[in-house]
This record gives sequence, structure tokens and C-alpha cells, in this order.
Amino acid sequence: MNPVTPTEVVARELRGKILLVTINNPPVNALGVDVRRGILAAINAAETDLAVQTVLIVGAGRNFIAGADIRELGQPPLPPSLPEVCNRIEACSKPVVVAIHGAALGGGLEIALAAHYRLALAGAKLGLPEVQLGLIPGAGGTQRTPRLIGVKAALDLMLSGRHLGAEEACALGLVDRVGNSNDVLAEGVAYAQELLSKNAAVRRTRDAGALVDRQASLAAIEAARADTIKKSRGLFSPLKIIEAVEATLDQSFDEGLAIERKLFLQCLDSPQRAGLIHAFFAEREVIKAPETRNAKPRAIESVGVVGGGTMGAGIAVAVLDAGLPVTMIERDETALARGRTHVENVYDSLIAKGRMTADAKAAIMLRFTGSTSYDTLAQADLMIEAVFEDIAVKQAVFAELDRVCKPGAVLATNTSYLDIDAIAASISRPADVVGLHFFSPANIMKLLEIVIPAKVSADVVATAFELAKKLRKVPVRAGVCDGFIGNRILAVYRQAADHMMEDGASPYQIDQALRDFGYPMGPFQVSDLAGGDIGWATRKRKAPTRDPNARYVQIADRLCERAWFGQKTGRGYYLYPDGARTGKPDPEVEAIIDIERQRAGITPRSFTDQEIIRRYMAAMINEGANVVHQGIALRPLDVDVTFLYGYGFPRYRGGPMKYADTVGLPNVLADIREFAKKDPLFWQPSPLLVDLVERGANFDSLNQTN
Ligand code: NAI
Repeated sequence: MNPVTPTEVVARELRGKILLVTINNPPVNALGVDVRRGILAAINAAETDLAVQTVLIVGAGRNFIAGADIRELGQPPLPPSLPEVCNRIEACSKPVVVAIHGAALGGGLEIALAAHYRLALAGAKLGLPEVQLGLIPGAGGTQRTPRLIGVKAALDLMLSGRHLGAEEACALGLVDRVGNSNDVLAEGVAYAQELLSKNAAVRRTRDAGALVDRQASLAAIEAARADTIKKSRGLFSPLKIIEAVEATLDQSFDEGLAIERKLFLQCLDSPQRAGLIHAFFAEREVIKAPETRNAKPRAIESVGVVGGGTMGAGIAVAVLDAGLPVTMIERDETALARGRTHVENVYDSLIAKGRMTADAKAAIMLRFTGSTSYDTLAQADLMIEAVFEDIAVKQAVFAELDRVCKPGAVLATNTSYLDIDAIAASISRPADVVGLHFFSPANIMKLLEIVIPAKVSADVVATAFELAKKLRKVPVRAGVCDGFIGNRILAVYRQAADHMMEDGASPYQIDQALRDFGYPMGPFQVSDLAGGDIGWATRKRKAPTRDPNARYVQIADRLCERAWFGQKTGRGYYLYPDGARTGKPDPEVEAIIDIERQRAGITPRSFTDQEIIRRYMAAMINEGANVVHQGIALRPLDVDVTFLYGYGFPRYRGGPMKYADTVGLPNVLADIREFAKKDPLFWQPSPLLVDLVERGANFDSLNQTN
């Protein structure tokens, strides 16, 4: 039983000597201003009411408190502040107990840490995930957590943003007791009564002393700092967390709080915070496609995957990992055996890393069947085709699916570029055809473009979104065009990178500039990783329709003609001696680039890293604007999410369209017009960008619609 749902945002009720304080701010009891006011008033009331001997705080509904009200961030602050509320709780002269069920995250956990006694139900989730929003815990979390669980564990909690279960939290000392029933109220009241009967005194975290081992604490801080500098690629708030925790070693609690406040405000003001919060909201918005509003998803209890290559196998793993059975279809027994091996390899590598047991793998593989006959798909609910990228091959597969699949089965294609309308039109049930564009490796990459052909029925789209949820993917709705949202924009900014390479920047400088911008790797490293042959095949396919006046850089073709396809062949733009994963610059590639420059009649010039970023981003933003303008993406935020989850765009910059708003659209447009002086065909300002600049508006203004 959960607490009775009261009508007030913070309800008070005297239960014997216990003042029961219930937070009731659906959906997740976020700490909005009314909640803060209510808690403060409750503690003040408890202090003066002689009948009250102890206070018990619980959350109504499914959570204790899931965190601060993120929508208030960046707005003028409304009193009381959360730190003030926490300090008031801690200062209370009567014991304050919290009983936690569901989420106690961020500010929610900080409230709990300020209380005197903490109980958590077995299913509770506790954490300080502020780092994911570019912040640090700002209501005493950085000072109280180390005092309770030590510096090392506190840093781990705050730097990872991970959630702890109740048992682990209890073992660490973050909570005092685990309640094993699921009745938070009964558990909380029993605990409070027990404390009362023992005359338990007020016990303030500010006075707790887990900081005993100074040497170990200093070592933990240094280790965290070194690790953070190495891993967090320019992120601001992790280092501020470390600085705040460091204050617990030499400063008083109150001085520590003041330092935390100062660092919190620095984070709040940082553009990274704005980018990360944009990303947070954008990924919640993308799931709201117009088709899913009124349509009911079809049931998906079994999935057929056609093709067991790179993508088919990865998709099969993603589906198996979601608990569904998979039937894989391949051309012949040899290809099928290879497909099965691809799937098994994924699990074997987990076993080798100690992250899975052989028994667990065996249990999963029981849900996997392979066949060379389409007839085995007769009862499957959803098919995902991942055969060669060739429209004739795909249409032949769809003809087979049309023949064998039951009515109502969803028929999806994983094509990267091909015209899904043409695939749909080739069979008798176009309304059942949808694009499900996964990214490689499909069992790991979070993005799933859901591509909407003209004739698809709304419930098929709703089913695709439901599948994304089951697979724990981030779905983005995309229209049909060459490359959909992501690959279409990629094609354009990759050309901008090639132009810069031919004009004088080395691929190594370009990659470095983009890593410094926050990407995990640059475009030439990505091409070496993916295999240069894939892009080469696409370029050859498109050659007949390419505008003869458009600039075409041939350097990649020269490398491919030598079969330098990247990592898998030991060299591409970089050298990978002896199977190395990280490449080394290759003087021979630089010589080839020089020859190509001469052939094209170009005198190389130097580029600053800043100019590289400006050109690369202007190309990305401009094509992003075209994609929104043509309705391929519903809103700019759909482009942002695509790039955050499929293309390694640094999350703290919010995505390319958010980045454009940060830089200022007039600046982006001015750059494009400047670049157009040399290459007006490539640099054509998007009508949407021009329109927004004329109206003094930004991309974010378009995110509110739909
Ligand atoms: P792949 O060449 O690794 O695998 C294709 C598989 O399909 C092969 O195992 C082949 O035997 C099988 N196959 C071919 N014709 C078949 C048929 N008629 N019936 C059954 N099986 C058949 O190719 P990959 O990379 O897995 O690509 C598959 C699809 O996924 C393509 O449409 C591609 O554009 C798309 N895609 C590829 C991505 C990548 O990074 N590789 C990313 C996203 C989409």
C-alpha cells in the first residue's frame, strides 16, 4: 500500500507522536516551489507543535522525490531554495525520518541526506545524477554524501550519476535500513516508532565523520581528477564535483556549502548545462510522433530478421536482449551459420569479459532460430529486413514476405538510403511497410530512425515506436528521402570536410579539431572504422546523377582503389600496423592528397581549427535546416537527437541545431554567405535559415510546435 493520496502538494497529518509529511506533486514529486514551501512549513510546524515528537517524510504515488523541477532551472529563483529547505530539515530539533520508495534522485536524495534517519524499500533507486545535466548536486549533496559514505564512494556516485539500489545504498551507509515489504508508509511509521521508543536523538549528517582516512580521501580525489580529465572530453561539471568534494577535507561544513553553491552557480550559467538540458527534454519529445497519438500499437511477440550480416545479426541481438524470440532468414545454410555465429560472437565476448555467464547465453539462444525458408515467418508479428543495399534484392525479399506473412504483420526495412515508398508500392500491403533504420553496432547504438512512407498506417508507426521502447532505443521520426535525417546531413558535412582536406587541411588536423570540439572521433577516423568501401559503393551508385558542376573530391576514391578501406585492411586515412585500433598518420596518404590537390589545380592554404569547425558545423546546420524545412524531420530537436545518439555529436552542445542557436543564426548565415563566394553551388543558404534570421527567431522557436 502506498500513502493515501492527499490533495495538498505537501500534506501534514499527526499520527500519534509522528508528524507524517507526504509529498504529492505528480507525476514524480519533483521539488517545485510549492513542494519546497510545503516541506519548510511542515518542519517549522513540527518544531513548534508540542504534540509532535518526530517527523516522517514520504512520497505519494510511485516515488519518493525524483529530483529538482528541471523546468525551473535557468528561471529566476523562487524562495525557499532547496539548500535552505535541506538545512532547515537538518537543523530540526526533533528527529526527521525519511522512508524512500521508487526514485530518490538528485534533490530528492539531498532531502533524504539532510534528514536524520533514512529507510529505503528494496526496490528504491537512489542517485545524484546532476552531472548528466551539466550540474553538481547543489543542496548539500557534495558535502553530506562524503560525510556519510566516504570520499571515494561519493565521487563514484556523483561522477557516474548512476543509481544505487537500496541494498547497496545501505551497505555504503547512505541509508540506515532496507524495508522489505512494499508498504512504504507502514515501514516508515514502524521505523519512526522504533526510533521514538529508543529515544533516538537528532543525528545530523553535517556532523557525521566518514572522512576518517585523510590519505585515502586525497588519493581518491587525485585518481578521480586524473580519470575525469582523461575521459570527460571537455565536460565542465565533473571537475566542479571533485572540487566541491575536496572542500570536505579542509573546510567546515558551512564553508563547504558556500563553495558548493558557488560552483553550482558556475555550472548553472554554463552553456554546457543549457545543451545537456536541451538534450534531456529533446529525447523525451521525440517519442511524441503525430501518428502515435491516437493509434494503438499492434502486438509484437515474435520478430523475423531477414539477413544475418553486420546489421541483421546486431538487430537480432537487440531483439533477443529485449526478451523476444527471433527467427533469422538467410540465403543458404552457410550464410545462416555465419549469421548465427555473428550473434553468438556478441554474447561470447560478453562472457570473455565476465559480463555474462554461459548459462545466460544458452538461455537467450533458445529464443533464436534460423532458417533458409521464409515459410517459418508465417506467424511472426514483425519482420526486419537487413539484406544487401540493393532495391531489386530488397523488393524480392518483400515479395516473399508478402507471400508468407500473416495479415497484420509489420514489414520493416533497415535500408540506409533506398526509397521505402518504392519498396512498399511493390507489394500488396503497402500500409504495413515502415523503415526501421538501426545504426551499427545495432545492439549498442541507441538511435533508431523510424522512417514513414506515404502509405503506412498509423498503427504500424505506433508499433515501431513501441518496438523502440522495448529495445531501449531512442526513436526519431524521419521522412523518406535519400539518407533520411542522419545520413542525408552526414553526406553534406562530409563533403565540407573533403573540401577542406583538398584545400589544405590534413585529415589529421580535421579529426583533431573535431575531437577538441567534443566528438569521440573525427570524420576520417569514422570512415576508417566503418570501412571506406561502403561510402565508395554509394558514390559509385550516385555518380550518374551527380551534378557535373558540383565539386567532387577524389581523394577517398584514390585510397579505395588501393583497397585502403580503413582498419579492417590495416590502412585507410591512417595506418593500423599489426591490427592496431588507433591509427597513425600516414605520409603516403598525405602524398596522395598533394597529388590530388595539384590535379585539381589547388594551391593548399592553412586552416585554423576554428575555421574547420565553422565550415563543418555550417554545412551540418544548413542541411539540418533543409531537412526540417522539407518536413523530413518534424522539428529541429529531432535533428539534434539524431546526431546525439547516432553520430557522436557532443551531448553537452545539445545537438547541431541547439549549437546553431548558441552561436547565433545570423552568424551561421553570415558564414555560409562568406563561404558561398568561392563555391555558391555547395553553400546555398537554406530557406528556413534565411527566414528565421529575417524574423529574428531561432531553431528552438520551432520545437514548441507539433
Ligand atoms: P551485410 O552485407 O553485412 O549483410 C547482408 C546480409 O544479407 C548477408 O549476410 C547476405 O547473405 C544476406 N542476404 C542477401 N540477400 C538475401 C536474401 N535474399 N535473403 C536473405 N538474406 C540475404 O550488410 P549490412 O551492413 O548488414 O547491411 C544490411 C542493410 O542494412 C543494408 O540495407 C544497409 O544499407 C543497412 N544498414 C547498414 C549499416 C551499416 O553500418 N553497415 C547501418 C544501417 C543500415
